[in-house]
Amino acid sequence: MAISVRKAVLPVAGMGTRFLPASKAVPKVLLPVVDKPLIQYAVEEARAAGVEEFIFVTGRGEATIRDHFGHDEALAAYLAARGDNAALAATAGAVLAPGSDAFARQEEPLGLGHAVLCARDLVGDEPFAVLLPDELLFGDPPCLAELVGIHGRTGGSVVALAEVPQRETGRYGIVQVAAEGEDGALPLAGMVEKPDPARAPSRLALIGRYILQPGIFARLAAQTPGAGGEIQLTDAMAVMAREEQFHGVRFNGRRFDCGSPMGAIQATIACAMERPELRQELLSFLREVTPSP
Ligand code: G1P
Repeated sequence: MAISVRKAVLPVAGMGTRFLPASKAVPKVLLPVVDKPLIQYAVEEARAAGVEEFIFVTGRGEATIRDHFGHDEALAAYLAARGDNAALAATAGAVLAPGSDAFARQEEPLGLGHAVLCARDLVGDEPFAVLLPDELLFGDPPCLAELVGIHGRTGGSVVALAEVPQRETGRYGIVQVAAEGEDGALPLAGMVEKPDPARAPSRLALIGRYILQPGIFARLAAQTPGAGGEIQLTDAMAVMAREEQFHGVRFNGRRFDCGSPMGAIQATIACAMERPELRQELLSFLREVTPSP
């Protein structure tokens, strides 16, 4: 029987320094790509993978994230009175069913590993997903659904990977592959957070989608600060990879790093091009602003 993954942790406490001043009052993950906030893309990807409970690890801006996923009676009544069914459907699509969202608070920005550890009690003793909403991934199948499928076959923990240029290894967690795996599941021997290009064990980077065994929490609790002085999820996973089944899967879809303005701009253009009602006008505009050779 296929193993399902019921819970997802979405760390959203980041300070969003690369998006200031936009991220001063609005959490970065609520900034839109076309007309949908980043965090909603991640929730939809998780939902498509069978996730039923969404655990947001928040810092500043928790109330705004709650509001986004909650039902807004006044807005719904206003749109219904105007007969604006498209807008009604769009707002309803954002609402999470009562009881399917949960919030954990990260009081201090001590790193991604610490953020995941903050969700420990809400996750309990079962395998769970982690999605970093900054990484906007479009795949068929969607990335997390693919990981769930592999997890169903291999058990253990499973992470998504993408090849990055050697000079960029210092921006990512980079894995060490133990052997060529079967059916696309690469057994991993270890991983290291943000290595210098000269020391990187490969060019395969972690891209923000994980399925982790609950044993990760004990390893996280034992972690000392790593790269950047932060408690790193990658360091705890590296310990686990030495002791338990740990697989990586190459993601073959399209990936946008929306943690930076350039990634977000590219994602917005790419998504708008997929929308028939926006495509033509956008193309004309792009031609207009592109200098002729
Ligand atoms: C985080 C993780 C890193 C991963 C990256 C993907 O880093 O720590 O392992 O490769 O996300 O975007 P951050 O971008 O938060 O520095």
